[in-house]
This record gives sequence, structure tokens and C-alpha cells, in this order.
Amino acid sequence: MPVKFKKVFFTYSPKSPFEYEALRDINLDLESGKFIALVGKTGSGKSTLVQHINSLIHPTSGIVDIDGFINSGVKKERTKDIKGLRKHVGLVFQFPEYQLFEESVEKDVAFGPKNVGMKEAEAIDKAHWALEKVGLGKSFFERSPFELSGGEKRKVAIAGILAMEPKILVVDEPTAGLDPAAAKDTMSLFKKINEEGTTVILVTHDMDLVASYCDEVVVMENGKVEAQCSPSKLFGRDLSEYSLQNPHIFDFALRLKKRGIDLDMSSIRTTEDLAKAIAKRCKHG
Ligand SMILES: Nc1ncnc2c1ncn2[C@@H]1O[C@H](COP(=O)(O)OP(=O)(O)O)[C@@H](O)[C@H]1O
Ligand SMILES: [Mg+2]
Repeated sequence: MPVKFKKVFFTYSPKSPFEYEALRDINLDLESGKFIALVGKTGSGKSTLVQHINSLIHPTSGIVDIDGFINSGVKKERTKDIKGLRKHVGLVFQFPEYQLFEESVEKDVAFGPKNVGMKEAEAIDKAHWALEKVGLGKSFFERSPFELSGGEKRKVAIAGILAMEPKILVVDEPTAGLDPAAAKDTMSLFKKINEEGTTVILVTHDMDLVASYCDEVVVMENGKVEAQCSPSKLFGRDLSEYSLQNPHIFDFALRLKKRGIDLDMSSIRTTEDLAKAIAKRCKHG
């Protein structure tokens, strides 16, 4: 499902003292099937942008076309089938665990499928499938979501979105506040889902995640899209104007280069790749 933003502007609280233009003339094509990172400093408009993709908020002007579902500033132009759209576009908020509310884990996860018309038993089956997928087995199904650890709660929230089997999965800072192991699990899960055909849009300011997982990166600054390119095109540039840091491996490679060891970084994505490239250089001199 391709997503197109056409001349999208968005203003919070228009005509009030709190008026704030958060998106300015966004033109963006997001292709199907990719793992796309949306990066930029806090307040650059990332969360505002992604909330347009499942029509949680509407443009002040311009349109978002999600494979024929139209989110427009003009009510008449807007697709009325919001449930249909949300079946296809799953949005996992930052700290989604705050949105858990049912008495059991399985009921919480089954809520979405039931809400779009699935029968109770079928929705529970789907919930079990999604929970297994995020690594929460049978023993979790009937527990209260409120007695789980932070990482487990977040998995329940992600399962709630996966249970809808969306074609586009949008995850807003999904690893914020998780310990490194839980963060890695979460990212591996998204990678797997992407490999199975779902478009993943990852909002983050962690460039290490971008280097390890993403095919494409969109850089936002002050409500505008500043760049859309492959991660390797972006890395190695001075990113301080966007308040972003190069991934650690690129930072390290840059320091090696200053000392006369110039590595071809175009195919290097992980620490392991970097170690291999250095070892090869040492062997061959
Ligand atoms: N509900 C709101 N009312 C008014 N301003 C808001 C609201 N939500 C966000 N903003 C402002 O819009 C800008 C973009 O916010 P946001 O999209 O959350 O950025 P990001 O996700 O990149 O940190 C920020 O300056 C923020 O303060
Ligand atoms: Mg945000």
C-alpha cells in the first residue's frame, strides 16, 4: 500500500493563542514493502506526520492518499471508511502500554479485530496468534495486562496492532525506555514482519537502528521533509544541523579514515560487518 502526501500543511489549535504550524508543505511518496525510518529531532513533526497516515488527524490543507483512502482537510473529500483504513494501517504510539485497558491480555489484543467486525472466538484466535508472534505464549493469555513488566506490556500493545494484520505498520519510538535486549527483540520482530511483506514506518532518532534495519530514511526538520534517501547516503554527512548523530559504526569509520584507514562503508550496516571489513584490511595490509 503506497502512501502519498501531497502539499500537506497541519496547524495545531488554529486561530488560538496556541496556534502552531507543525507540518509545512509535506510532499512524500512512501513505497510499499519497505522498512522506512522517519528521523528528526524532538518537535520536528514526526508524530504529527504519522498520525495523518491512519487519519487520526486531518491535514489543515493538502491530502494524504493511502492507496485510495483519502485523508483531506476538506471533509467531503475524506474517505468515510475509517475502520477500513485502520484495518490496513496499524499505528503503535510511543509508550503504547498506557493504552491497555482490558481485564486480560487476550481480550486487550482481541479488541481491535472485534472492533472491525470479527466474531469473538475468531478475534480471540487472532489474538493468540499475535501474542505468540511477539513472544508471549499461552501463560500470558489470561493474565491482567497491568501486572506485566514494562517490556511485556509493550509487547501486548504491539500484538494488539499485529492482530489486525495491517499492510502498513507505523511504530512511533518503539524502543524508547526498553532495555537493550527488549529493544533488540522488538526491532527483530519488526524486521521479520517487514520481510513477510508489511511496510514498516519507524519513527526514531536512533541512527543505529536506522543503520541496522532500514532501507530508506526520511529526515524531518521544523515541520518539513529535508531529505529522503537510502541510509548510506545520509551517513557520513554532518548531521548536527538536524540534531542527529551518525550511527556509532559510521562515526568510528570516520575516525579511522582520519588516521588513514579508508573503508568502503556502502555495504556496512552492523558492528559485525565493520569488524569483518577491518579484519580483511589487516590480513591484506
Ligand atoms: N496537541 C498539540 N497541540 C499543540 N502543539 C502540538 C501538539 N502536539 C504537538 N505539538 C507541537 O507540534 C510540533 C511537532 O510535534 P510532534 O509531531 O510531536 O514532533 P516529534 O514527534 O518530531 O517530536 C512540536 O513543536 C510540538 O510542540
Ligand atoms: Mg514524537
